[in-house]
Amino acid sequence: MGFYAKHVFPRVMDWMLRGPQHQAERETVLRSIRGDVLEVGFGTGLNLRHYPPGVTRLTAIDVATMLPLRVARRIAAAPFPVTRTELSGERLPFPDAQFDCVVTTLTLCSIQDPVPALREMRRVLKPDGTYVFLEHGRSDDARVARRQDFFNPLQRRLACGCNINRRIDALVREAGLEIRSLERYVLEGAPRMMAEMYRGAAGRGEG
Ligand SMILES: C[S@@+](CC[C@H](N)C(=O)[O-])C[C@H]1O[C@@H](n2cnc3c(N)ncnc32)[C@H](O)[C@@H]1O
Repeated sequence: MGFYAKHVFPRVMDWMLRGPQHQAERETVLRSIRGDVLEVGFGTGLNLRHYPPGVTRLTAIDVATMLPLRVARRIAAAPFPVTRTELSGERLPFPDAQFDCVVTTLTLCSIQDPVPALREMRRVLKPDGTYVFLEHGRSDDARVARRQDFFNPLQRRLACGCNINRRIDALVREAGLEIRSLERYVLEGAPRMMAEMYRGAAGRGEG
């Protein structure tokens, strides 16, 4: 991992994703989370303070370890036990049907193979469990989507593998999850290409 990816990008990412607008987004999407929870793509732990009191335990995984001291402080302040492990979402070492809830926020953009990772999330979800997501992705507006396709290679370089043109609901369905709710909206004040939001919840479905 180069200097930029190890030292610069995590700080910029943490700063950009902890502003008031993102905090409000996190608060909203995490409102229904409860029980034994898996968060994939934990990043710098910015969701921790937004989990509601019904959460009993959090297993947090991420392929990278970013800003370890800052993250350790955030974990220490959490009112429930947190186990953080460096792992890739595509292969989860957890038994089937372990978790009440699985969470991703702003992560499906960055996972190299999102469908296998989502299949793993589905596998470890209890039959009555919920997968909750807050993601940015492909626009339904063809002109914006074309711009997203054009700028995606640059975005991937600048933001360490983040894609701006993924159709998030299609990926979730392709993994066999059954979408129960989906809200599509554009985040105010951010460049449109990066502000096309997908907020929703899904169950394991029949498959
Ligand atoms: C844009 S950051 C978002 C971090 C955090 N979810 C948040 O909301 O602030 C994307 C995160 O996904 C992680 N990630 C990328 N590929 C991954 C993978 N295969 N498995 C687990 N995490 C991954 C990155 O390391 C990074 O922490």
